[in-house]
Amino acid sequence: MSTLFSPIALGSLTLKNRIVIAPMCQYSAEEGEATAWHMMHLGHLALSGAGLMILEATAVEPEGRISAQDLGLWSDRTETALAQVLQAVRKHSPIRIGIQLSHAGRKASVHVPWQGGHSIPAAEGGWRTCAPSPLPHAEQDDTPQELDAAGLKRIRDGFVSAAQRAARLGIDAVEVHAAHGYLLHQFLSPLSNRRNDAYGGSLENRMRFPLEVFDAVRAAFPADRPVGIRVSATDWVEGGWDLEQTVAFAHEVKKRGAAFIDVSSGGVSPHQKIALGPGYQVHFAERIKAETGIPTIAVGLITEAEQAEEILASGRADMVALARAMLYDPRWPWHAAAKLGAQVDAPPQYWRSQPREFKDLFAGAKLG
Ligand SMILES: Cc1cc2nc3c(=O)[nH]c(=O)nc-3n(C[C@H](O)[C@H](O)[C@H](O)COP(=O)(O)O)c2cc1C
Repeated sequence: MSTLFSPIALGSLTLKNRIVIAPMCQYSAEEGEATAWHMMHLGHLALSGAGLMILEATAVEPEGRISAQDLGLWSDRTETALAQVLQAVRKHSPIRIGIQLSHAGRKASVHVPWQGGHSIPAAEGGWRTCAPSPLPHAEQDDTPQELDAAGLKRIRDGFVSAAQRAARLGIDAVEVHAAHGYLLHQFLSPLSNRRNDAYGGSLENRMRFPLEVFDAVRAAFPADRPVGIRVSATDWVEGGWDLEQTVAFAHEVKKRGAAFIDVSSGGVSPHQKIALGPGYQVHFAERIKAETGIPTIAVGLITEAEQAEEILASGRADMVALARAMLYDPRWPWHAAAKLGAQVDAPPQYWRSQPREFKDLFAGAKLG
């Protein structure tokens, strides 16, 4: 019996297996609205058989986009555009769908990656970014505006209204983005948060705004649907946010009803020194799970079925998320199920593709 293909309950949401499609920005929206690209991209990933597909970082206000092409959920128009994509996906796939809600803070206003990803200053057609403190991400970037009480409220309200829109869209789960150096991570990390009010200084103060946002999202999203959070377990910089603080944060979000924690790392500082390798972030998830008992998603260079199975079977994490491997091979879960002797959902139109040696691969398949 494969652990990877065993179900897991996140509150009252049961996932058929423990494979999560990690959130992946597509930089292909127009004014925050999902486009035909999203139909294609999410359409094919929805046929993958994964237990959960988390939609890309979705901005809660226009200034919270990383690039001007980011997906958003701040208006009726953005909600309608996403509704159309989701309707098509749902018509043909039973996959569970989550959404990552995000604000980029000082890392906003950049070119899309395939145009270099550099910061676009307000004077050159970008926009003024905001952050906990007036410190640019990279030295050459514009200095962000320090958020005041009204700014914090506006952003918290943005998360709330996006969560309500996500609920209306029938989205099964929300992941609050507090990783990769974006706004909520900027509050957590002492490298980017130098405030001397109630939102800066001590660990308790640095956690305050991310926890307020988490509480507000949890309250705004239906109680029977899970809300989790993505964190960077370390900044990979001496004196930055680290695993000890992440464990403390995990205890706090657990108390507040977080259904899962998705454990990534890095992104807050260009000086980070990441120790890359297969499953390089799994030990962070393992420690958080051991110390807090919160359901964890391990992510980062998990590429092989046997590797994923081992991470879960040994109890180091509860789910695995894959990003690049899913783009490279959108049928990764099919191939993993074949290797591990398990079953996946596949659309009936494709049932005839089932190889002879894996004749029970597709759940419920009836072949004429
Ligand atoms: C194209 C692409 C877009 C990404 N966009 C996001 C995103 O929107 N939100 C996020 O938290 N991480 C994002 N990531 C990071 C992935 O979710 C994942 O954590 C990372 O790629 C490591 O997993 P992997 O080794 O399976 O690719 C992105 C990664 C890729 C490759």
